[in-house]
Amino acid sequence: MTPKVLIIGACGQIGSELAYKLRAQHGIDNVIASDINEGNLELVNSGPFEIIDAKDLEALKICVAKHNIDTIYLMAAMLSATGEKFPEIAWDLNMNSLFNVLNLAKDKFINKIFWPSSIAVFGPSTPTVNTPQHTIMEPTTVYGITKQVGERWCEYYHEKYGVDVRSIRYPGVITWKTLPGGGTTDYAIDIFHKAIANENFECFLDEDTELPMMFMEDAVAATINLMEANADTLTIRSSYNLAAVSFTPKQVADAIRNHFPDFTITYKPDFRQEIANTWPKSIDDSQARIDWNWNHSYDLKQMTSEMLTQLGKQTVS
Ligand code: SER
Repeated sequence: MTPKVLIIGACGQIGSELAYKLRAQHGIDNVIASDINEGNLELVNSGPFEIIDAKDLEALKICVAKHNIDTIYLMAAMLSATGEKFPEIAWDLNMNSLFNVLNLAKDKFINKIFWPSSIAVFGPSTPTVNTPQHTIMEPTTVYGITKQVGERWCEYYHEKYGVDVRSIRYPGVITWKTLPGGGTTDYAIDIFHKAIANENFECFLDEDTELPMMFMEDAVAATINLMEANADTLTIRSSYNLAAVSFTPKQVADAIRNHFPDFTITYKPDFRQEIANTWPKSIDDSQARIDWNWNHSYDLKQMTSEMLTQLGKQTVS
């Protein structure tokens, strides 16, 4: 049966890509995009769109009833770097939007939820190499705290109320289609924009800061695959570790130099270095690979080539 989908936070980096992909798959009218404002006009003008504050339960209920929604992707969130500037707003948005959607499912208004978690759930006491699915988690950012608590609530609602909520701990997600918004991993997008503009890139992380990353196509495919997986095969209802590649700023700069030999990078670490220092270098995602056959496609070389090609086309057109 074709699902009737609502994407909350659809104008954001991952939300917009999910909207396009799900619309191609299920039909434009079966995927309602929503956000707090019309932040992405291309998306707003390409199918059904509702302005909704994810913190407003009544507004969500009205939208769910109006469009007969059965599945919600809750992509609205304040990310790590911005969350440090606005701790209470980050807590309010990240937690209350999740409660709203979990309660809609508990009360049977909808029957399936996707909610993204993040590598930010890990902290300085977590093993950093090949970080296991189950390990010490003492996050030190507001964003990480909201994601870790959110994971606990997802598992709780699944266990106590039978809510079908599914989640992935996204690594840094790399895309050429939208500009990033307030994350610590976002340097790995900005760097390509600077390379295309023939400018030096001043990196806010040190050259050897290794973080887990993933190309957008892989992140969207993972999300949809998890949502389509048979519920019986899922053993994790907090959030799945997910990995593709890990790299440092220096390694991305080297990969870019294979295309633009004159590209230069300088390093000026700021408060985001402290955040990155508490996150894993690489992730063990074997449970996702076992439970729902997760497999990534893009490595750093392919990602670099695709980013430069696509951003190059945008500059020309
Ligand atoms: N990309 C996110 C951030 O940097 C991590 O989930 O905040």
